[in-house]
Amino acid sequence: MAVRRILIAPHPLLKLKARPVERVDDEIRRLMDDMLETMYRAPGIGLAAPQIGVSLRVVVVDLAKKDEPPAPMRLVNPEITWRSEEQVVMEEGCLSLPEQFAEVTRPAAVKVRYLDERGEEREVEADGMLARCLQHEVDHLDGILFVDRLSPLKRNMIMRKLAKSQRARA
Ligand code: NI
Repeated sequence: MAVRRILIAPHPLLKLKARPVERVDDEIRRLMDDMLETMYRAPGIGLAAPQIGVSLRVVVVDLAKKDEPPAPMRLVNPEITWRSEEQVVMEEGCLSLPEQFAEVTRPAAVKVRYLDERGEEREVEADGMLARCLQHEVDHLDGILFVDRLSPLKRNMIMRKLAKSQRARA
């Protein structure tokens, strides 16, 4: 496994619609292992392949708490098949927008259909943090960042703050 570099917004690759995976093979499984290692190192709770510059519909998530054993989820070609009418507001962050957070409104619960690491079709019904995280990651596959779900005013404010902190770091 290898830690990959995480792209920071406004990198153009983060805006692309990612391609579906045709076959879940060793290369895809290796990609998911690299993504998990990269995510754990960051640390973060979710990562989409476009964030490491790979334009494929692959997502990894792990919501285990610090004192719990790792519980990695590997999702290939995830697709949201149902969204609850109920919406909730939760604070979100993103490894591609380091140190930036904002409250985002999204459906409280979703169903997501995907292929697991063996290429078998699965469906998960999620609410709470998992629903939130899955929606955020699936957005990445369509070139959408959480700031794109905010008002232009808030989005611009965050992007300016991010640019400033990145310049300070350089
Ligand atoms: Ni993100």
